Amino acid sequence: MIIKNIFLENSDKKSDILIKNGKFEKISANIEINNDEEVLNCDGCMLLPQFIESHVHLDTALTAGDPRWNLSGTLFEGIECWAERKEKLTKKDVIERARETIRKQAVNGVGHVRTHVDVTDPSLVGLEGLLELKEELKDEINIQIVAFPQEGIMSFPNGKELMEKAVKMGADVIGAIPHFEFTREYGVESLNFIMQLAEKYEKLVDVHCDEIDDEQSRFVETLATRAYESGLGSKITASHTTAMHSYNDAYAYRLFRILQKSKMNFVSNPLVNTHLQGRFDTYPKRRGVTRVKELLASGINVSFGHDDIFDPWYPLGDGNMRDVVHLGLHVCQMMGYEEIMQSYKLITHNAAITLNLGDEYQIKEGNPASFIVLNADNFYNALNDKKEVLYNFTKGKLIAKTEPVKKLIMF
Ligand code: FE2
Repeated sequence: MIIKNIFLENSDKKSDILIKNGKFEKISANIEINNDEEVLNCDGCMLLPQFIESHVHLDTALTAGDPRWNLSGTLFEGIECWAERKEKLTKKDVIERARETIRKQAVNGVGHVRTHVDVTDPSLVGLEGLLELKEELKDEINIQIVAFPQEGIMSFPNGKELMEKAVKMGADVIGAIPHFEFTREYGVESLNFIMQLAEKYEKLVDVHCDEIDDEQSRFVETLATRAYESGLGSKITASHTTAMHSYNDAYAYRLFRILQKSKMNFVSNPLVNTHLQGRFDTYPKRRGVTRVKELLASGINVSFGHDDIFDPWYPLGDGNMRDVVHLGLHVCQMMGYEEIMQSYKLITHNAAITLNLGDEYQIKEGNPASFIVLNADNFYNALNDKKEVLYNFTKGKLIAKTEPVKKLIMF
C-alpha cells in the first residue's frame, strides 16, 4: 500500500509512504505507484503514531450507575460503589465491557493501552479476563496490564500474596495506592514491597500516587527515591500525583530535585482529576491536577490518561484521548500556540516512554506500520476542529475507520 501526500506529524511538507509486510518500507517525498499497488490518497491529512492510552481502568469501564450512581462525586464514594459492583463481577462481564471500551478507543485512534486492573479480589477474575482479552486482541491492540490494589496492599487481607499471584499470572506492571493505605507507614511499606517485587520479576511499576488533595500526602518523594536508588527510574511511573497541586512551593522546589534525578515518568488524568478532586473544598475549589507544565519544563516525562470511562469514578467518556488533551491544556494553562501544536505528544511519544515501547513506536523505515490518519493538516487544527481519525492501522492492518464527516450549513 502507498499513502500519498500526507503530513508526517506536524511537518509542513508532504510525504509518501510505502507499506509492505506490515512495515514502513519507504518514506520519501514522492514514491512511484506500481499498477497493482493499493493507494490511499491522504491529501490534506496528517499521520501520527497511534494514540496511547497510558492510564485507564478497563475492568471498571461502562459500569456507571450499576448498582448505583456515585452521587457525591468523590473518589471515596467511587471506591464504595465499585466494591458493591465487584461482588457480581464475572470474567465474561469484564471481557465484554473491556472489549467494547477498546473498540471505542480504537475508532478514536488508540493502538496501545495501559490498563489497571483491581487485584484486591481473591478470585482475580478481572485480571483473568483482561489477560484473555490481551491475547485475543494482540494483533490489533497492544495491552499492558497493571496489577492494581484498589483497596491497598498492606490494608487488604492477603494483599501482598494477591499482588505476587497477579504478577505470576502475567501482569506486566505492578501498582500500588499508598495514600489509601490505613497509615503513612503502610503506604511506605507498600512502595518498598512493590519495588522489591518489580526487581524480582523484572516488571514495570505504575503507582496511583497521592491521588488526594491532602498537601501532606507525599509518597511521590518515596517512590522517586526508590526509583533513583534502584536505577529503575524510567521503568517507574507515578500516576495522578494530585496532591502536588497543593504542595507549598518551598517543598515542591526540594521535591523536583529528586524527581529529575529519578528519571521517573508521570501520568496526569485531567478529566477525572478535575471531576474528583477539590470535593472537600468549599471555595476556592482546587483543580486537583498535578504540576504538568512545571514537570515538563523540568525535563520530566509526562503523559495524559483518560483514567475512567463511564464508571463509578467518572460518568462520561468514549475513549477519545483528544478530549483529555483538550481539557488538560486548559487546566494546566498550556495554551500557547506551540504548546497546543505539540500537545499530541502527551498521548503519543511521551506516553510511549512511560510504556517503555522503545524505538519501534517511531514513524520510520523498518518499523511496524502502526499509525493513524487525522483529517487535518496539523494537530492544532485537528484538536480545534475536532477532526476525525480517518484510519487506524496496526502493523499495516486497518483496525478502525471513520468516514469524513460532512457538515451542511443552511444559511
Ligand atoms: Fe486510575
